[in-house]
Amino acid sequence: MTVHTYDDTLRAFDWLQPGQVFVMTTGDNPRPVLRRLQSDRPRQFEWGILEDGPARYRVEIRRRAADEPRAVSEYLGWDHQRLSAILDEVSRLVRKEACQDAARSFAEFACGLNWHINAEETTLFPAFEQTIGIVDGPTTVLREEHRLIRRWMDEVSAALNDPTAAERAITGLEEILSEHNIKEEQVLYPMTDGALAGGRERDDLVNRIQVT
Ligand SMILES: [Fe+2]
Ligand SMILES: [Fe+2]
Repeated sequence: MTVHTYDDTLRAFDWLQPGQVFVMTTGDNPRPVLRRLQSDRPRQFEWGILEDGPARYRVEIRRRAADEPRAVSEYLGWDHQRLSAILDEVSRLVRKEACQDAARSFAEFACGLNWHINAEETTLFPAFEQTIGIVDGPTTVLREEHRLIRRWMDEVSAALNDPTAAERAITGLEEILSEHNIKEEQVLYPMTDGALAGGRERDDLVNRIQVT
């Protein structure tokens, strides 16, 4: 849906039932809309970037079931699942040899994962390092894995016109990504949530991650 004003966005959001999603398409950077939505509909939505400009932006906004304070585990765990579902779709399209559709879907995946990695490195990891007090530990390992994950993304991107090579590269990417996600979901995210004083602090960190 292309929306023209902030009020359109608010109206479209208020129509959603819990669990439903709408995709906002806009020519302007949507982060100012996100900040207003965070203040007008606090804790009520998830936000995932599908296309990040400069000509066009597309954002997926999903209504949450409850407006309780969020935790890093919930928000970034949800984003892992969202991205895995897109990568599964890329795989399916590659197997059907639908190269153009696969490339379109992969562009969405790459946009989302690049955003996710950037949000972790610029907002989450520094928060972890500061609250836990460990600088040269898990975040160093995870940053190195991000570098390898980006290399696998380049491999997939370069192979999308060749289904056999693309399938092989997607399998490599899925393997490293699933190990990486497990470490974050079982160690880094819960440690960060546990180290923050309460629901309000966790929710504030989720807001800061969202606007990265
Ligand atoms: Fe990560
Ligand atoms: Fe992650």
